[in-house]
Amino acid sequence: MPTSTIVIAADHGGVALKSQLKDHLQGHTVIDLGTHDAQSVDYPDYARDLAEMIASGQAQKGILICGSGIGMSIAANREPSVRAALVGDRFAAQLARRHNDANVLCLGARLIGPDMALDCVRAFLETEFEGGRHQRRVAKMSAL
Ligand code: RB5
Repeated sequence: MPTSTIVIAADHGGVALKSQLKDHLQGHTVIDLGTHDAQSVDYPDYARDLAEMIASGQAQKGILICGSGIGMSIAANREPSVRAALVGDRFAAQLARRHNDANVLCLGARLIGPDMALDCVRAFLETEFEGGRHQRRVAKMSAL
């Protein structure tokens, strides 16, 4: 996987998966915004903090995990410079990079197992944006 700064965060529904995935991110600079235990927290707080790091350029890519991945993706996409993609398999993660230039990967810890989640993370980190006609479409989203 190429080296870059990755920011990762989860709510209580995703904290266990976050810690499993972090073990596989050697070679990257990883900033972990929490949460760090199973105590109930609110996913929008974590999505906002992560989105701000992407917007400011402090991190190039982010990974957000909650129970379903849905709340995190909705919340993160409120930041205009974030393109957060909720995926459930490797191919979707590849497409999110190739066609959408996704800079945040969202995962639902209660929906997929750790092996599939790791596959998604690897695809997200390894796959390049294709540009071309997709660049025009991504640019249109930035103008919304
Ligand atoms: C927390 O119980 C749960 O609602 C959260 O992890 C997430 O699934 C929300 O979209």
